[in-house]
Amino acid sequence: MAVLLTGGTGYIGAHTAVTLLEAGYQVVLADNLYNSKAEVVNRIERITGKRPAFYEIDVANAAELSKVFEAYKIETVIHFAGYKAVGESVTKPLEYYKNNLNATIEILNAMRNYGAKNLVFSSSATVYGPYGESPLKEDASTGCINPYGWTKWMSEQIIRDAAHAYPELSCVLLRYFNPVGAHESGLIGEDPNGIPNNLMPYVSQVAVGKLACLTVYGNDYPTPDGTGVRDYIHVVDLADGHLAAMRYCEKHTGVEAVNLGTGKGVSVLELLHAFERVNNLTVPYKIGPRRAGDVAECYADTQKAEKLFSWRANRAAEDMCRDTWNWQQKNPKGYES
Ligand code: NAD
Ligand code: UFG
Repeated sequence: MAVLLTGGTGYIGAHTAVTLLEAGYQVVLADNLYNSKAEVVNRIERITGKRPAFYEIDVANAAELSKVFEAYKIETVIHFAGYKAVGESVTKPLEYYKNNLNATIEILNAMRNYGAKNLVFSSSATVYGPYGESPLKEDASTGCINPYGWTKWMSEQIIRDAAHAYPELSCVLLRYFNPVGAHESGLIGEDPNGIPNNLMPYVSQVAVGKLACLTVYGNDYPTPDGTGVRDYIHVVDLADGHLAAMRYCEKHTGVEAVNLGTGKGVSVLELLHAFERVNNLTVPYKIGPRRAGDVAECYADTQKAEKLFSWRANRAAEDMCRDTWNWQQKNPKGYES
């Protein structure tokens, strides 16, 4: 029995592949390399001593996907594949809906055709929209403000409907908060294309001298220091959360939406200063205006993950900052170096 990781050479997929290989699972990666590099497969092998199978395919293509299901007896799919840039989704909504929704539909079709029962889906805290009060519980109201968010919201609905129609399915919708950090080896990490939109990769690129200065988007929020508060979760904790979710799926049927976060809010300035302190360096920054679409604070209620999966994130902001910097220093040009 094998586990298929769509989007498996991406940032979260690669870390999850390491966790699953170390836990003894047979791992198959499928990715079209739209936002990742084949070198990731070598790095996973260097960390674990095991080489996962890799298919360079578009998972929204039913014929290509069926080749993987023909070659392996897939019991579980962890579906990471998708486009994820919020801003780009506003200018390219049709590309986002087409790719992200077709991928989800074709995965479900292939699972039905080949008898795969367990699905773990990469959703996002973005489905809670901008109005919910933190700590966010899974039963909080949902709704989105950009096409990317809606692709997650709609994929969740598609999966719920499929699970209703095919009761043998077991699905977990994982709502990630803010994944950051890298594997402690420094061999795999986040490798964004172009100028990063997200805080942690931006900070580390300023620290390494690739970018001149961080702009803090607003210091007039109703938060303790005025800057935005988020729930940053170490990507290795997140990967462990996938293993826990998979094990839950193996023993249940139906659908559960579950937050993966730490439950702890950290402000932009707190994260920035933790990065400086842990890595003994200075990151130039200036205060700028608020970024459109940002909320003051967003952090998880983590009780459901603890209850269902017996899982809890245990790495601190300091670990996230140290491991990000280790990865950045060892790979100044990402996987190209
Ligand atoms: P990533 O871009 O590093 O990984 C996604 C992978 O999917 C990439 O390697 C890309 O090449 C691949 N892909 C995209 N469309 C594909 C297709 N049609 N066929 C095959 N491969 C395809 O992103 P990530 O940060 O690892 O995120 C993984 C998942 O988690 C995504 O669905 C993302 O939306 C979701 N998510 C990420 C975050 C975050 O902050 N990183 C937060 C919440 C949710
Ligand atoms: N920020 C800055 N300067 C920057 C970048 C970010 O001050 O250069 C601030 C933001 O204003 C926010 C915080 O840092 O207060 C975090 O911003 P990110 O862009 O890193 O993350 P977001 O919370 O905006 O969004 C992320 C993902 C989304 C996902 C969401 C919830 O990018 O895809 O978390 O999971 F939907």
